[in-house]
Amino acid sequence: MSEVAGRVLVDAARAAAANAHAPYSRFGVGAAVLLKDGSIVTGTNFENASYGLSLCAETVALATVNAQGRFRDVVAIGVIGGVLAKDGTIAGSAPVRPCGRCRQIINEAAQMGGNDIDIHCGSADGMIVERHRASELLPYAFGPADLGIATTGE
Ligand code: THU
Repeated sequence: MSEVAGRVLVDAARAAAANAHAPYSRFGVGAAVLLKDGSIVTGTNFENASYGLSLCAETVALATVNAQGRFRDVVAIGVIGGVLAKDGTIAGSAPVRPCGRCRQIINEAAQMGGNDIDIHCGSADGMIVERHRASELLPYAFGPADLGIATTGE
């Protein structure tokens, strides 16, 4: 995927992050998932007063993709995050890379779809977009194939 397309995805993640439900951490995260047909599905982190129940933006976006019956169609993901101000703006100069749990969930989509998903990690200020691959962020991953589950391309 081109750098420009990665930036479009990160921009969609930034727009989504404005709706982050993060009153506890005050760290807003947005994720945007690109599907094979070019459509984009977004998610935000979704915190809870019972802190441990909180969900990450990447997980919310991928669960939404699954609810649309498109879990095997994931091509790329964009993520941004930063400090959430009272007015809803998000600030930060460091790229956000998916947490360990999200890497496992991204791997599930990658293996089910038979596609090594591109992950574009952006900074809230728009200055940095790093590109990684799912297999790079979670090497030697445990996944559906280890449980004998058929994946696309098999
Ligand atoms: N968070 C994400 O949404 N994605 C990540 O990859 C890292 C962390 C969220 C979880 C929590 O709501 C907040 O950021 C602070 O950890």
